[in-house]
Amino acid sequence: MNSTSFNAEEHKKMLRSYFNGQGFQRWASIYGDDKLSTVRKTVREGHTVMMDKAFEWLRKLALPPESSVLDAGCGTGLFSIRIAKEGYKVKAVDIASQMVDKAKADAIKKGVAKNIDFEVNTIESVKGKYDVVVCFDVLIHYPAEGFAQAFKNLSSLTNGSVIYTYAPYNKILAFQHWLGGFFPKKERRTTIQMIKDEDMQKAIATAGMTIVNKEKISWGFYHTMLMHVKH
Ligand SMILES: C[S@@+](CC[C@H](N)C(=O)[O-])C[C@H]1O[C@@H](n2cnc3c(N)ncnc32)[C@H](O)[C@@H]1O
Repeated sequence: MNSTSFNAEEHKKMLRSYFNGQGFQRWASIYGDDKLSTVRKTVREGHTVMMDKAFEWLRKLALPPESSVLDAGCGTGLFSIRIAKEGYKVKAVDIASQMVDKAKADAIKKGVAKNIDFEVNTIESVKGKYDVVVCFDVLIHYPAEGFAQAFKNLSSLTNGSVIYTYAPYNKILAFQHWLGGFFPKKERRTTIQMIKDEDMQKAIATAGMTIVNKEKISWGFYHTMLMHVKH
């Protein structure tokens, strides 16, 4: 896909269909406790390392009790449930209803559903104002144009911090290669999209934000850049 051919609606349609179908099975097993292949196990472990770090950064903000956090692209709700247990008021949004249903069911099991407001919606369209916005391993599915659009909306939803991940250009070929095999041919466009540093800097500056923290997480086949930016 090149810069002139990006169609936001088509892209969202494709992501919704993937994450409600085959993608749901695959990612739910990575984020769950199913037995996994060695390769996928490293993705689960790397994702856990990333979430632990993001959780540490969130806590360092020392927000008052019951502060609000938007988990944009919440998936099976791992982070939402974790922070709901800590007393944050969480809004958990995902494009795929299957993901939201699973996140809700797990939140009920863990007794924290009352702290989480679930919604099937996209990171481009979700509304509201939150103390912090988090968005993990979602923007990795967007090429530069789609990324900039989505990031603009996310940054407008807080006067505070956005903590998110993206795939830095050139740094993730192994993971991309691995992930490519997980998508049916017609949905190959969902492979990891790398963002150039200059595009990332531009998106942050356009949103009037600055970088607080930045850490590369590399663990087996899991490679991502964890970012903390603020207004
Ligand atoms: C790789 S999973 C990550 C899930 C979760 N953030 C985590 O790290 O555990 C990507 C998630 O992003 C969701 N997603 C993809 N595009 C989205 C969009 N435009 N708006 C909201 N959610 C989206 C998918 O449905 C999927 O649940």
